[in-house]
Amino acid sequence: MSSEVQYQSGFGNEFATEAVAGALPVGQNSPQKHPLGLYTEQFSGTPFTASRSVNRRTWTYRIRPSVTHHPYQEIPSRQVRSGPFTEVPTSPNQLRWNPLPFPDEPTDFVDGIVTLGGNGDPAMQTGVGIHLYAANASMNGRFFYNADGEMLIVPQLGELRFCTELGILDVIPGEICVIPRGVKFRVELKEEKARGYICENYGLTFRLPDLGPIGANGLANPRDFLAPTAAFEDREGEFHITSKFLGRLWSAFIDHSPLDVVAWHGNYVPYKYDMARFNCINSVSFDHPDPSIYTVLTAPSPVHGTANCDFVIFPPRWIVAEHTFRPPWFHRNMMNEFMGLVFGAYDAKAEGFVPGGASLHNCMAGHGPDAETFERASSAELKPQYLDNTLAFMFETQLVVRPTEFAMKTSILQHEYFECWQGLKKHFNSKS
Ligand SMILES: [Fe+2]
Repeated sequence: MSSEVQYQSGFGNEFATEAVAGALPVGQNSPQKHPLGLYTEQFSGTPFTASRSVNRRTWTYRIRPSVTHHPYQEIPSRQVRSGPFTEVPTSPNQLRWNPLPFPDEPTDFVDGIVTLGGNGDPAMQTGVGIHLYAANASMNGRFFYNADGEMLIVPQLGELRFCTELGILDVIPGEICVIPRGVKFRVELKEEKARGYICENYGLTFRLPDLGPIGANGLANPRDFLAPTAAFEDREGEFHITSKFLGRLWSAFIDHSPLDVVAWHGNYVPYKYDMARFNCINSVSFDHPDPSIYTVLTAPSPVHGTANCDFVIFPPRWIVAEHTFRPPWFHRNMMNEFMGLVFGAYDAKAEGFVPGGASLHNCMAGHGPDAETFERASSAELKPQYLDNTLAFMFETQLVVRPTEFAMKTSILQHEYFECWQGLKKHFNSKS
C-alpha cells in the first residue's frame, strides 16, 4: 500500500476510486470479463431494498473474491464481550473508571480491546458494545472484521493507521473513524502506544442527524467526513483473519492479504472526521440546551427520536449564557450515558474524570456537577468564557448499558465516585 494517504470528502456520497487506471468499470457494475482480470464483488451494508436515502453498498474490484479463505475456528475472546450482557447484575449506581493501563506484553489493536459494557444483542441487530482499547503493537499478519456491528473508534492517545479493504485512514486523537460492519482491516500503530474508546453499533448505521430549525448547515458538516481512496495489497503469505461474529471471535487462515481491492465505487465506506470541524450551536441568551445539540452522528432505533446510539461531543467553545448556571445541570435521564474524555478537563467535574477515563450514568441515575464545580459555577462572574483544552464525548443509548464483570471488578473502577456529590450542601432558606 502507498504511504501517500488521500481522501474523498462527503458523507454517504457515491464515491468512485481506482488505484490502477482502468480498474473501475465505466457504465456498468459487473462486466462479463474485467479488463485487468479483477473479480467483481458487491458489498452491502443494508438490505438490498433499504430506502434509497439510507441504502449503503459498494462495488469492489479485487484480486481475489472474499470467499477465498480456510474455515473459521473459534479462538479465545480475551476481554471482548457482547450482548446480551448478563455476566453480572447491573447496578443503578453512577460509575466511573480510570484510564485502562497499557499492556506489558506486545498487544495489537484487536487483542487490546476490553469491553466495559453494552446493551441489546448483535443477534437482534440492536444495541451497542462499549469497549476500551490499549495497544502497543501493530497487527502483524492479521486482519479483522466485525459482523456484529460498525465500530466508531475514538482515539485518545496515539495515531493509528487503519489499512482497510477500501483504503487507508490515518487517525489521530481529536479525530474519530468509523469502520462499517464487515469491512476487513488491520491497524498499525504510528506511535509506541495507543489507547481509546470504541462504540460497536449493532443497529442501523450511524448517520448525520436531521437539523430541523437549525437549517441547512451546522453541527457536523458532510464535507468534513473523509473516506479513503482505493489502495491495495498484492501480498501472498501466511495470514489470519479474525472475525467477530455473534459475540465470539473466530480465526481463519488466508494465503493472501484480503486488502486487495484495486478499485471501488459506492457509499458503504469507512470514514474519519476531525472533531475540531464541529460547528457548535449553543445558547446566546440564557439557560443550557440539552446535550443533543452536540450530536455528531446518530444511529437510530426504529422509534423516531430515540437513538440506538448518539455520538455527542463537547469540544472547545464559547459559553456566554447570562444569569445562568453554565455547567451541565443536575439531571436524570431515560437515556443512558457513557462518557469519555480525549483531552483536557470536562466542565462538570473538578477532578476524577481524566483523559482516557470513562463514566456511566444509566437510566434514571441522578448526576451532574460535583460539589466543587457547583460552588464555583454558582458564584462565577458571567463574562463570556472560552472553554479551551477540552474534548469530552458521550455514547448515549436508549437501552441500559450493562457493565461487564471486568468493568465491575477491575482496579480502575472508582469506588469512591459517589463522594464527589456528597459535599453538595443544603442552601434552602424559606425566609430569603
Ligand atoms: Fe447526563
